[in-house]
Amino acid sequence: MSQNILVTGGTGYIGSHMVVRLIESGYTPIIFDNFSNSKPAVLDRIEQITGVRPLLVKGDIRNEQELENLFRNHQIDAVINFAGKKAVGESETDPLLYFSYNVEGTIVLLRVMKKFNVKKFVFSSSATVYGDPGYDEFNEETPLAPINNYGLSKWMIEEVLRKLYKAEPDWSIAILRYFNPVGAHESGLIGEDPNGIPNNLMPFISQVAVGKRAHLNVFGNDYPTRDGTGCRDYIHVMDLVEGHLNALDVLSKGPQLLTVNLGTGGSTSVLELIKAFEKASGKKVPYQICPRRAGDKAAYWTNPSLAKTLLGWTAKRDIETMCKDTWNWQSKNPQGYPD
Ligand SMILES: NC(=O)c1ccc[n+]([C@@H]2O[C@H](COP(=O)([O-])OP(=O)(O)OC[C@H]3O[C@@H](n4cnc5c(N)ncnc54)[C@H](O)[C@@H]3O)[C@@H](O)[C@H]2O)c1
Repeated sequence: MSQNILVTGGTGYIGSHMVVRLIESGYTPIIFDNFSNSKPAVLDRIEQITGVRPLLVKGDIRNEQELENLFRNHQIDAVINFAGKKAVGESETDPLLYFSYNVEGTIVLLRVMKKFNVKKFVFSSSATVYGDPGYDEFNEETPLAPINNYGLSKWMIEEVLRKLYKAEPDWSIAILRYFNPVGAHESGLIGEDPNGIPNNLMPFISQVAVGKRAHLNVFGNDYPTRDGTGCRDYIHVMDLVEGHLNALDVLSKGPQLLTVNLGTGGSTSVLELIKAFEKASGKKVPYQICPRRAGDKAAYWTNPSLAKTLLGWTAKRDIETMCKDTWNWQSKNPQGYPD
């Protein structure tokens, strides 16, 4: 029988791609989202891709009552928690908002899961838990030292999960630390649709290419990297969500706590990404060099070997595919999703 997977934040960027792959893999996703950073039109698009309209329950993971109603009305086998806030800058100006959405929200969710005896949990963590260890190739042993409140909120939830598993070892928990998710579903029907000015490089580049923004600011070209600009480990969102499918499989083998980095093992500089995007789109991406930003590390990527060993997973899609799929989504949806 098909397993019911609760996907919190399932209408967001990564969540919507996850829901598509869950449906295609024979699972029954149930989306729980408060639409604080997404639009209901996503559901039409998921239906267009898969032929299935996923069940949606509107609600907030911080609201215990809403979650209890959800668990009472639906049998749930596992939970993937994408719901949360992710803008580093905003986390510095409004820390309480971040600790509430990310930390408090996840604790409420875990409490309700426990009450209904659902103990399979996949958590979206982030490379921001690592801070700057003084070297570029991270692995899961790299010391945890977040340098902003967003990263701190992810670290706090990880700590909660580690303590929970220690006290109650009948849980099955996967902590997945994402590097830099980019790209879109190959159909161009779903993709990243940031509110206002994008915080991340790829959506900014694609908005410049489509004419929505005049130019890109490149923060620093004097880093000790190949071309002086910052290098990151970009991972295609479809590879990322496929890593979650592998994690679900592994978790179903029994209680455990897994902590795994999801990245490609390579890195791409800002200028290399601009060039690859120009090639994929046939559009010029004008940019100007600005001073470095505080807190930006020159380069980092993950060693992907633990993901291969524990999950049997490696990223398959290259930077050209990431740019091509981003452009396909952006050019078909220059204003993002309709309201
Ligand atoms: N995109 C990235 O670069 C990245 C990198 C590392 C980790 N992550 C993590 O992955 C997760 C998903 O990221 P994303 O890029 O898809 O973000 P997103 O903002 O597109 O998606 C988050 C979704 O959660 C919903 N949501 C937020 N707070 C909620 C709440 N309290 N109750 C119910 N729904 C709520 C939003 O409406 C949105 O649909 C986040 O936890 C994020 O921190 C993202």
